[in-house]
Amino acid sequence: MERELALEIVRVTELAALASAPWMGRGEKIGADGAATEAMRAMLDSVSVQGTVVIGEGEMDEAPMLYIGEQVGSGSGPEVDVAVDPLEGTNIVAKGLNNAMSVIAVASKGQLLHAPDMYMEKLAVGPQLAGKVKLTDSMERTLATAANVLDKAVSDLTVMVLDRPRHETLIKTLRKAGVRIKFLSDGDVAGALAPAFPETGIDLYVGSGGAPEGVLAAAALHCLGGELQGRLMPSDGKEYERCVKMGISDPYKVLTMEDMVGTDDVIFAATGVTPGEFLGGVRYLPDQRAETHSIVMRAKTRTIRFIRTLHYLPNKPLLRNRPEFA
Ligand code: FBP
Repeated sequence: MERELALEIVRVTELAALASAPWMGRGEKIGADGAATEAMRAMLDSVSVQGTVVIGEGEMDEAPMLYIGEQVGSGSGPEVDVAVDPLEGTNIVAKGLNNAMSVIAVASKGQLLHAPDMYMEKLAVGPQLAGKVKLTDSMERTLATAANVLDKAVSDLTVMVLDRPRHETLIKTLRKAGVRIKFLSDGDVAGALAPAFPETGIDLYVGSGGAPEGVLAAAALHCLGGELQGRLMPSDGKEYERCVKMGISDPYKVLTMEDMVGTDDVIFAATGVTPGEFLGGVRYLPDQRAETHSIVMRAKTRTIRFIRTLHYLPNKPLLRNRPEFA
């Protein structure tokens, strides 16, 4: 993939973020997601790739747009896998909370894991801990290793976790170990990436979240030099069979970075919708302008670009599908 593609790709997440931001705080997650999806789908047509959606809004019969297998892009350029989450954190936007983003990863064809829509157990770290910790180790051991490598006391570690009842035992273990816990209401792509940004103060991300989000985070961490290890959590025989059908012969195996992202030829972009750990949210400015904050990165060069863009939105009702707000 040509490096120019990075700029084309970030325009896709910018537009999706701009489309969903007007829904912030309206209690309508479906509206927010629909607006982001529609904008992302339309913008993808301008990207010079022959893309196939491998992670998207669902199967063909359940999602009208950005469904798995859908062909996207201008139809010329490299053949690529496309993984998207037009609005990562639909509830976040509905409730006006932090860490919602629009996200995309593009990799050479056949190189992204086709993750089924189920939970995945995750352990994500930044570059300093990459290769040093294991999902199969006990949490106590992982924390001791992390403290040792980072040269701090276990009690000085900060661990990010999704605030969910299913994490009760994990949280008890973390409390017992004495680490600080930073809870996420939703949005575990941002959570998994946080340890790769030292300014967040987060050392590890642990717990279970969506498997598709795990692959998106792995693509980003590949560019950042971090690591995500994952293990699918099929909840019944049907989900187990689904994994096998999607080409994962041992659904309980620990998925490495290479299993999830098999190439250096990957570009990741995200634009903040609401303010987050490492990206600002969409801000409305005077003179019909809106500001977005994005990150775009390529694994090949490990270049990380933060892009602040001022968009001019002349005479555009912010909520396109809702004339009453125009
Ligand atoms: P949506 O944007 O699809 O609502 O997902 C938000 C999210 O928090 C993900 O980031 C995370 O992987 C997943 O939901 C966790 O699922 P659950 O809410 O069932 O714990």
